[in-house]
Amino acid sequence: MVSSTFRLLILCTQLALLILNININITHAQLRPTIPSAVCDNNKGNYTNSSTYQKNLNDLLSSLLSNNNGYGFYNSSRGQNSDTVFSIGLCRGDVKSDACGKCLSDATYALPGDCPNQKEAIGWSPNCMLRYANRSMYGLLEVNPAYYAWNTENVSSASLDAFNQELTALFKRLGSEAAGGGDLRKFAVGNASVGSNSNITIYGLAQCTPDVSEGECAACIDGAFGDVPSCCSGTIGVRIVTPSCNIRYEISPFFDSTNETPLPSPPLATPASAPPPPPADATTPGGKKSNTSRTVIITVVTIVVFLLLIISICIYLRWKKRKEKLEGDELGTEALQFDFNSIKVATDNFSEANKLGRGGFGAVYRGRLWNEEDIAVKRLSRDSAQGDIEFKNEVALVAKLQHRNLVRLLGFCLEGNERLLVYEFVLNASLDKFIFDPIKRAHLDWDSRYKIIVGIGRGLLYLHEDSRLRIIHRDMKASNVLLDAEMHPKIADFGMARLFDLDQTQGETSRVVGTYGYMAPEYVMRGQFSVKSDVYSFGVLVLEIISGQKNSSFRHGGNVEDLLSYAWKSWKEGTAANLVDPMLKNGSRPEIMRCIHIGLLCVQQTIADRPTMAAVILMLTSSSLDNLPAPSQPAFFMDGGIGSSSDMSLGWENNSGVTGSDPSRSGSVQKSPHEASISTSSYLLSGNGS
Ligand SMILES: *[C@@H]1O[C@H](CO)[C@@H](O)[C@H](O)[C@H]1NC(C)=O
Ligand SMILES: *[C@@H]1O[C@H](CO)[C@@H](O)[C@H](O)[C@H]1NC(C)=O
Ligand SMILES: *[C@@H]1O[C@H](CO)[C@@H](O)[C@H](O)[C@H]1NC(C)=O
Ligand SMILES: *[C@@H]1O[C@H](CO)[C@@H](O)[C@H](O)[C@H]1NC(C)=O
Ligand SMILES: *[C@@H]1O[C@H](CO)[C@@H](O)[C@H](O)[C@H]1NC(C)=O
Ligand SMILES: *[C@@H]1O[C@H](CO)[C@@H](O)[C@H](O)[C@H]1NC(C)=O
Ligand SMILES: *[C@@H]1O[C@H](CO)[C@@H](O)[C@H](O)[C@H]1NC(C)=O
Repeated sequence: MVSSTFRLLILCTQLALLILNININITHAQLRPTIPSAVCDNNKGNYTNSSTYQKNLNDLLSSLLSNNNGYGFYNSSRGQNSDTVFSIGLCRGDVKSDACGKCLSDATYALPGDCPNQKEAIGWSPNCMLRYANRSMYGLLEVNPAYYAWNTENVSSASLDAFNQELTALFKRLGSEAAGGGDLRKFAVGNASVGSNSNITIYGLAQCTPDVSEGECAACIDGAFGDVPSCCSGTIGVRIVTPSCNIRYEISPFFDSTNETPLPSPPLATPASAPPPPPADATTPGGKKSNTSRTVIITVVTIVVFLLLIISICIYLRWKKRKEKLEGDELGTEALQFDFNSIKVATDNFSEANKLGRGGFGAVYRGRLWNEEDIAVKRLSRDSAQGDIEFKNEVALVAKLQHRNLVRLLGFCLEGNERLLVYEFVLNASLDKFIFDPIKRAHLDWDSRYKIIVGIGRGLLYLHEDSRLRIIHRDMKASNVLLDAEMHPKIADFGMARLFDLDQTQGETSRVVGTYGYMAPEYVMRGQFSVKSDVYSFGVLVLEIISGQKNSSFRHGGNVEDLLSYAWKSWKEGTAANLVDPMLKNGSRPEIMRCIHIGLLCVQQTIADRPTMAAVILMLTSSSLDNLPAPSQPAFFMDGGIGSSSDMSLGWENNSGVTGSDPSRSGSVQKSPHEASISTSSYLLSGNGS
């Protein structure tokens, strides 16, 4: 008993670290940021690279989406004998099919990377769950691993009793409704009002994978709900997920009840009469013999297992809380902290020879760690108002932004006044070193440039919409796009505003980060930024990639003109082909023209006329040619010599004056005292596994 508790504690520790990656986005965007979670079970076996298992897994995941049961449940397998891979996917019942497909396809992309070489893995994001294994899971009731997330805000004690009463009644109802949903979908949502004046409404959701029987589903939901008192009694929002079922409640609507309308003719509406094939697994013994006794056994086992786990979680949580208090460390930042001396050694004491360049926020050095890993170290040049703890926490958040088109932040280092950021090292130089170089440019054919454009677009889309942190880059430009060995683009320097404690919500700001030539007019003039100011910068970048010329020193037949005006003029006169880099000899003309068109749409003066990055990606990747809106004249604010000389970042203004760049330019930025605050509500996350 003692040793098993100890083992559970260790498991809890490991899982808690994993859980920090979980994408549990309980209400809306401003909560704790998240990335799809993954739970890898090291004990279930490993596969080797290039093995048949890996090949089957890849095949399976890439074809999983074609095995929908019509209601967001996916089940398939691939391969033979011991190399067979089984997979199950489930979308939240109210999620529309396109969002469902996107969620699962993101998960199929992420999960094998999160659990490298693991035969068995499971991952949840708010809209879907994906799991795979070398065993058949279809029809098995499984309640482990389970995850818990809850809102740290509590129900007022005056309403608590009534709240709990309504909550219990609600989940009793939802449990049986979901369980009785039939063989295709087991899903229910509902609401309940609390108190005599009904000033609180509880919104609840319960769902099982449809392959478990009615009784198993009911027991699973019951078991999950039964954990609420021990994990998160009295809080205003809870989410509990297990492989076979999940529940969630909030005091504000979080589901789409329009999709909750009765299903179109449930074809096989013979619930429970067709239980799944009797699985050869200890947790679901017997066949059809006795559903009731089976349910009882499952319930008892579930409760016992959960009680054990909950106890260890509580012990662990208490321990963790105490530890956090000691260290003020909420996000597991120790794992991200590098030792200053080892960075010093890695970069040869920040030697000139290792200097890669200078960015908006400080010099960047190349380094090699003791384990031979190559890194890039940014030595932040300015003081931030931010304290060390906030800085650490922000690093932990930004480090979770992981996407193949983003340069990965590996960690940080604090020492005295020094603040260092440690990034993965990206082999090739930045994009500007290629597209603006008369020789290297020639090697960058249209296909590579197109891939770069799409890659940058995807990276930005992730920052804007998919990452949940809603990062606005604010300094998109060619020198902030790095190219790896395969010439895939990776966006650098994102999240800097967070790391410097700048306001990240849409609004106005007295501090401006950015580079002339790439900055949207409303940002330059009024300090207003939004995802659409990044879209503007992206548009400039697209036109630069196509023309091979800098916006800030665009040359046409000996005249220095600005790229945007020239692009617009040419487009209007039907001579846009003149804009195209003469070195682009091959390459699909319609595709190039389409990209010019999209670039122009992105640099529209009116913010609302600029597409979102999601729309841009759609336009870039869809094949039909005639559905783009016509652009109107783009914003020209760059007349005069303003942008002609440098590509330097502006840095930002603070109250004591301008730091960093040329003050005469920043003079046009009007200060606004307004700074929206970032929501402080947060979720505690916890979990268990067995
Ligand atoms: C799955 O793989 C593990 C480890 O390789 C092995 O022990 C186990 O028997 C496999 N399970 C099945 C059902 O093949
Ligand atoms: C699988 O690999 C992980 C790390 O690579 C290792 O910790 C684990 O023991 C391996 N599991 C098996 C069953 O070989
Ligand atoms: C498998 O390949 C990936 C990259 O292709 C590599 O990162 C990983 O270390 C390899 N794993 C093993 C066990 O060789
Ligand atoms: C689910 O997948 C398994 C493995 O491929 C298969 O045996 C089973 O018949 C599938 N069930 C349904 C309903 O498609
Ligand atoms: C909610 O209640 C728990 C204990 O019941 C307490 O530790 C916590 O601080 C409360 N949260 C808030 C936001 O008051
Ligand atoms: C609560 O659910 C009922 C149906 O059970 C629905 O008619 C009502 O609109 C819901 N109320 C809210 C506030 O969503
Ligand atoms: C609801 O009303 C009760 C008493 O009637 C009060 O204590 C509670 O604060 C109210 N809650 C909200 C969210 O207004």
